[in-house]
Amino acid sequence: MKRYDFDEIIERRGTDSLKYGILNEIFGTSDLKPLWVADMDFRTPDFIIEAIEKRLKHPVLGYWNYWDGYHESIMWWAKTRYDWAIEKDWILFSPGIVPALGLCVMAYTQKGDDVLVQSPVYHPFYYAIESQERNIVYNPLKLVGERYEMDLEDLEIKLRKGVKMMFLCNPHNPVARCWERDVLARVAFLCKKYGCILVSDEIHADLTMPSFVHNPTHLCAQTDEEKANIITLMAPSKTFNMAGLATSEVIISDLGLRKKFIHLTHNVLHMFNGNTLGAYALEAAYSPLGAEWVDQLRDYIWENISSMNDFLRANFPMVKTFRHEATYLPWLDFSAYGYSHEELLHKLAFECGLGLNDGKIFGKEADNKMRINVALPKKELLLRLEGLKHL
Ligand SMILES: Cc1ncc(COP(=O)(O)O)c(C=O)c1O
Repeated sequence: MKRYDFDEIIERRGTDSLKYGILNEIFGTSDLKPLWVADMDFRTPDFIIEAIEKRLKHPVLGYWNYWDGYHESIMWWAKTRYDWAIEKDWILFSPGIVPALGLCVMAYTQKGDDVLVQSPVYHPFYYAIESQERNIVYNPLKLVGERYEMDLEDLEIKLRKGVKMMFLCNPHNPVARCWERDVLARVAFLCKKYGCILVSDEIHADLTMPSFVHNPTHLCAQTDEEKANIITLMAPSKTFNMAGLATSEVIISDLGLRKKFIHLTHNVLHMFNGNTLGAYALEAAYSPLGAEWVDQLRDYIWENISSMNDFLRANFPMVKTFRHEATYLPWLDFSAYGYSHEELLHKLAFECGLGLNDGKIFGKEADNKMRINVALPKKELLLRLEGLKHL
């Protein structure tokens, strides 16, 4: 078995990297170390690069069509990683998961409709709703000890009022939660009961930590009717560090919902497939080699999280950590320092030289919280964290 090297330092400054390229615009200084945008500073796996190179050996990059291996690789991945049997027809295309959220709002709701989110949550969830003049309904997560829980009673109260769509984040970014089967079954049940379409963003599915498993929401739903009410969004982009290839899957088992999505994407927008290189990369990713690579990646991320937690405990015990179940994006609480949120942001950027994600972009309740990206070589992560001594 090949051992992959996640310790390799790769210079991304001066490339087309968003994470390194727009620091000044976002933080007001480019003199800082980025630990924000959710891509990884690791090499995109060689078998993916090779698949793209192989395709490039053919001299024509004209209009292309799906081949059997494309769908088979998605079905194989879902089956072998999650024991989820997806049918070929269920698989549709979106260039990204955020575009897919926007497409779902467009396809299934009307102006003025209510769409529910569980804050704090990945901020483009809000934009997909508000930008299309739908109303955001909040079902905030509750902090219970070291982790966040869903407030299922509040969820039922909100759904009963006539919410048309729910955006679920499973696993949840930014609080790194891997939702349990019974919780997901309850959400699926409630959504069906109150006529609310359930859109399950599972982009972080592959990035669970040891002793946690990803539960596809569709698999947790108890009845065929509940399953038919679910739209699942998945992608190799986060897992394999290939977000720049803009290739994601939308999985819709119900024919009626599928027809509406197809009408929008095929007839209205003419975006039924993406770029051919992304499709070849996806096929290479969802493979036995991909499985081997991801398993090593997850171990490495877990080691980074454990090392970060040890380092913080030893050197900066006022930084509170949370139980980390999935994603490479831990959630940190700096309240013990006693700064206002604005003071904290300023100090982190201008005194510590760290570019973290401001917790408040994910939800207004996230006072003094920040999200950190630990998908980089461990040595570099710990070096960057030294900056916290200036807090
Ligand atoms: C929950 C979640 N959904 C979607 C995305 C981004 O999706 P895409 O780049 O495919 O639009 C992210 C990126 O961090 C995310 O965390």
